[in-house]
Amino acid sequence: MHVAADMAKVSSNPRFSERVSQLLSNMHLHEKIGQLCQVSGCEGHVSEHLAQQVRDGWVGSVINEVDGPTVNYLQHIAKQESRLGIPLLIGRDVIHGFKTIFPIPLGQAASWNAELVEQAARIAALEANSVGVNWTFAPMIDISRDPRWGRIAESLGEDPYLCSILGAAMVDGFQGTDMSESGQIAACAKHFAGYGATESGRDYGTTNIPENELRNIYLPPFKMASDSGAATFMSSFSDLNGVPASGNRWLMKKILREEWGFKGFVVSDWESIYQLEIHGLTENSRDSAQKAFNAGLDMEMVSTTYREHLEELLETKQVDIAQVDHSVGLILSVKEQLGLFDKDCQSPDTADAFYQQESLDVAKQIATQSCVLLKNHNQTLPINAQETQHIALIGPLADDGFEQLGTWIFDGEPQHSVTIRSALESACPSSVNITYDRAMATTRSYTTDLYAQALASANQADVIVMCVGEEAILSGEAHCRADIDLPGSQMELIEKMAELGKPIVLVVLAGRPLTLEPIIEKVDSVLYAWHPGTMAGPAIADLLLGEAVPSGKLPVTFPRKVGQIPLYYNQKNSGKPATNDQYIHMNDIPPRSPQTSLGMAAIHLDTHFSPLFEFGFGLSYSQFTYSQLTLSQHHINRSETLEVAVTVHNTGDWDADEVVQLYIRDLVASATRPVKELKQFSRVHVKRGEHKKVIFSLNINDLSFYNDEMQWAAESGHFHVWVGGSSATTLQQGFELIDG
Ligand code: BGC
Repeated sequence: MHVAADMAKVSSNPRFSERVSQLLSNMHLHEKIGQLCQVSGCEGHVSEHLAQQVRDGWVGSVINEVDGPTVNYLQHIAKQESRLGIPLLIGRDVIHGFKTIFPIPLGQAASWNAELVEQAARIAALEANSVGVNWTFAPMIDISRDPRWGRIAESLGEDPYLCSILGAAMVDGFQGTDMSESGQIAACAKHFAGYGATESGRDYGTTNIPENELRNIYLPPFKMASDSGAATFMSSFSDLNGVPASGNRWLMKKILREEWGFKGFVVSDWESIYQLEIHGLTENSRDSAQKAFNAGLDMEMVSTTYREHLEELLETKQVDIAQVDHSVGLILSVKEQLGLFDKDCQSPDTADAFYQQESLDVAKQIATQSCVLLKNHNQTLPINAQETQHIALIGPLADDGFEQLGTWIFDGEPQHSVTIRSALESACPSSVNITYDRAMATTRSYTTDLYAQALASANQADVIVMCVGEEAILSGEAHCRADIDLPGSQMELIEKMAELGKPIVLVVLAGRPLTLEPIIEKVDSVLYAWHPGTMAGPAIADLLLGEAVPSGKLPVTFPRKVGQIPLYYNQKNSGKPATNDQYIHMNDIPPRSPQTSLGMAAIHLDTHFSPLFEFGFGLSYSQFTYSQLTLSQHHINRSETLEVAVTVHNTGDWDADEVVQLYIRDLVASATRPVKELKQFSRVHVKRGEHKKVIFSLNINDLSFYNDEMQWAAESGHFHVWVGGSSATTLQQGFELIDG
C-alpha cells in the first residue's frame, strides 16, 4: 500500500519523463535498489555471477570495464535479458584522456585556455565512448592549496574562478550539448566537497573548513558545474567539519539540492559509504546505508550496503520509498539523457576513434600552452638550432614515454608517447649533435654511478637540457609527499652540472609544484611542464627551439619551502600583514634582541613571506607591458556594468600569447575578503611591437560573496581592481559600488 501510494506520487512528478515514470511504476523493489548499485567489472570478461546480477536487475552501473565487446555483452544482457531492459551506466576514470593522453589537469589549468580544455575533454569522451564507456569521473574540481597532496595533480589548482571556468569547460567537453550524441559521455563533478583541504596534505584526511570559507572558496566550482548541467556529482571520502561528506546531509540536500537545484544524481566515492563506519559516524553498514541514503547519496560505488540493507531500512521506515523512487528516477533520467535506451550497443570496432591526428594536434597544443617558463636568464631559451652544435640531453624524464603521461592513465599506452628526446632529435637539423644520458634510473635514485658519463657529455655541449622532476607514481591519489624538493639525488646532479659553467635549461615534469629554491640559482632557464601526456615531446621541443613561445601561467602558488604551505595568493590580509619593511631573517637578528624588536608581522623567520613564484606567473620569450588601465566609471550602482580596459603591449621580439588577468579586492566587508581575487582572464595573441586593448566587464555578481550571514550579496563600498600578467600585478585602479 505504502509503496503504491508513493509510486503514484512519483509517476505524476513532472521532473521525470514519461518513460522514466513508467519504468518506476513497473519496477520491483529489488530492481530499484539495483539501480542504486554500481559494481566493479571483471576487466575483459563477464563472470557468470556478474551476468546473473545484471540479468536479475541488481546492477545500475558497472565501473572499470573498458573492453568493447565485454561492455557490449553486458549491455546486451541488461537490455535484452533483464525484465525491464534498463541499460547500464559504464563508468571509468577518464581524467585527462582515454588513449590520447593530455596534460594532467593541473597542467591543463596552466594553459588558462577553456576552449582547449573543452576540446581535450571532448576527445577523451569520444575515445572512451567508442568502447562503450558512457560516464567519466571527472572533472575533479577540488580547490587545491597544498602541493604535498598528491591529488593536486588531478585538480585545476588553487583558484575558485579558474577552477570553475575550466571545470565547466570539461563538463561541456564530456557532455556536449546533447549527451545522447555518439561520442558524448556523462561527467561527474568530484569530490563534493572540501577534499583538497585535507590536513597536512595527506590523502583522505580530515578537513575542517569554516562555512564562509567553504562557500566562498571550495564550493563555487561545484555550483558552476551544477549550473553547467553536470549529470552527476561524487561525494568525497573526507570528513568535513565532523560529518564525512558521504553522510553529509547538509552538503547533499541543503546546498546541492535545495540551494542549487542540482538535477543529476550523486554517486559515492569508492566504498565511501561503507567507510562511514570506519570514520566513526555509524555503528555498522546498515547504519551507513541509512545515513548516506538519507543524506542524499543516490548511488553506491562498489561497496554493498544499499544492496544489503535498503530493503530492511524501508520496512522499518528508516528510509522512505519516495526517496528511493526519486533517486532511481534521477539515475534513469541520466541514462535516458545519454540515449542509452534507444541506442544500439557500441560497435566493438574502436580503432578509428583512438589517436586521430586532430586529437594528437590538440594534445600537442594544450601541452605547449600548459608549460610555464619560470626563469630565462640571459635568454638561454629558445635554443638556436642553427648556431648550436651539441645539446646534452640529460635526465631520467627525457626519454620515458610512461612517466610523461602522469597519474590516472588507466587506459594510456606509453608506446604512443612521443618523448622529448625523440621529438628533439627529429626537430633539430642534422648539424646538431644531441647526446642523451639518463643519468639516473628513476627520479628517486640515489646512485651516482651514471653521473660521470653524463657530466662528460655535458662538458662537450653548448647547452645542457636536463629533464628532471617526479615520476608519475609520486603524485595522484594516495601519493602525497611531506618533502616536495626534487626527489632522489637530482639536486646533486644539477649542482654537478652547474659546476661545468655551461648554460643549463631545466625542464621539470611533475605532478605538483616542487620547491625549486635550492636549485633555482644554479640553472639558467626553467620550463615547468607538469606531466604533459602523449605529445610531451613535440610540445617541449617546439618550446625549446622557439617554434612555439611559452604562454602558460601558474594555476597554483609555488612555495619557497614546504613549511610555508598552505600558501596561496588569495589569502586574507590579517591584522598584521607581512611587508618588506618588517621582514627579517633569523640569521640577521642580533643576539638578545628584545621580544618586540621584529616588527610583529605575519612572517616566518627562516624564509621570506613571498612565494618563489606567484599564482598567475609565467614568462614568455617576448615581453609584455601593461598600461592605460581605465574604468568606464568610478562609481557604479547595482544594475550597472563596469568596463575595465587595459592596453597590452608586446615589446619583445616574438609574436606571442599573453594571459591577461583581472583581480579585485573588496576593501571593507562584513566578512573579510581576500587581498586579491581573480575575476576574469583573457588569453590574447599580440604580434611583436604591437598592442591590444583588452576590455573586461564586471557586474554585481562578480562583486558578490557569501557575507557574515552566509548570504550571497555584494556590499556597497570601495574596491580595487588590478590587471596584469600575474597575481603580483600592481597596475591598479579603484571604484565604488553605490546603492541604487
Ligand atoms: C577516487 C575517485 C575515483 C574512484 C573510482 C576513488 O578512489 O577517489 O576519484 O573516481 O576511485 O575509480
